[in-house]
Amino acid sequence: MTLASRKILLVVSGSVAAYKALELTRLLRRAGAEVMPILTAGGARFVTREALAGISGSRVHDDLWAAEAEIGHIRLARWPDLVVVAPASANLLARMAHGLADDLAATVLLATRAKVLAAPAMNPAMWAHPATAANVATLASRGVGFAGPAEGAMAEPEAGLGRLAEPSDILAAIEALLAAGPLAGRHVIVTSGPTQEPIDPVRYIANRSSGKQGHAIAAALAALGARVTLVSGPVAIPDPPGVATRRIATAREMLAAVEAALPADAAIFAAAVADFRPEAAPTQKIKKQPGAPPPEIRLALNPDILATIATHPTQRPRLVIGFAAETEQVIDHARAKRQRKGCDWIVANDVSGDVMGGAENAVHLVTADGVEDWPRLPKEEVARRLALRIAQGLAP
Ligand code: CTP
Repeated sequence: MTLASRKILLVVSGSVAAYKALELTRLLRRAGAEVMPILTAGGARFVTREALAGISGSRVHDDLWAAEAEIGHIRLARWPDLVVVAPASANLLARMAHGLADDLAATVLLATRAKVLAAPAMNPAMWAHPATAANVATLASRGVGFAGPAEGAMAEPEAGLGRLAEPSDILAAIEALLAAGPLAGRHVIVTSGPTQEPIDPVRYIANRSSGKQGHAIAAALAALGARVTLVSGPVAIPDPPGVATRRIATAREMLAAVEAALPADAAIFAAAVADFRPEAAPTQKIKKQPGAPPPEIRLALNPDILATIATHPTQRPRLVIGFAAETEQVIDHARAKRQRKGCDWIVANDVSGDVMGGAENAVHLVTADGVEDWPRLPKEEVARRLALRIAQGLAP
């Protein structure tokens, strides 16, 4: 009973393979899960609501307005531990990628905060189409997991990728997703990358942060089961899988995105936030004036995001972690920074070498109990260790 009392909302959309949703439902229930099906109009062409209801032992939801009258799409969206879309048609993947809410399935998929696993099933040409590829990439970047598609015999004569994954393989993917990591059920916010502060519409002040360390931390936390919101400045690296990434440019936007993501159990501030921004960013490009001296840029102080969240009056995360980039007296400065900003831990790094943009990092973890010196490690390994320490820190 690997899925004992786990709640699965199973969305069945239009595909010849929809009959396999019955087998998947049977396997899920045998593993102990509670299954509540949502049947789209397309899905109902291939499998009956009576068959789904019989095998799931649940009522089948298929009408947005009927659901509204009974329990409401928001309650449906909040109910599950996991939403499984199997089969996921090209059409439903497109609607999910574009945030449409034009039937019950799409509305619940837009409203849910649960993890989503999609098992695509479609004609190989439709799967290979750049539109579908782009939709799948978008969904994956938002943390949607995928099982399949597989290769093999299909209803159509064409061969290639597009066949629904076997129910037993979808079950294995579900079990892997729900296997409780030490951070399961926790929400963690991570900031990463530089900020860009506009001077005028074409110029900005920024810094050399690559986002590698912050992104690696977000990925490591997600791998331990946390729900992660990553708030990132402009970076050239991809969004980590399984993480909800919010892209912003300025420090003020970063603060707003972090505040919007509260409440959280922990927050890690790995971004290299610009301390100052040009006070006024004119809406027109600043031009050279012949004979005149170069313009002066007056700077204004940006909000300190770490300090703001660490001293939040009502929604301070239980564990607030800052970074300190130092070139000398690393530990002393980090200790002082921990006090000044009101955070619990400081990850102090010596940035006198090639840390910014580099692949490795040598850090010291400064807590109320003292200082841990970690060896020089790849940034992914620093991230993994930090994620494990966070799991310990949040353990009851
Ligand atoms: N930070 C922030 N918002 C700011 C500035 C910094 O959230 N406006 C966070 C960073 O993400 C990091 C920590 O605060 O976690 C770094 O603090 P900061 O005071 O900027 O220290 P350093 O960059 O180390 O520089 P300095 O030594 O000048 O204080």
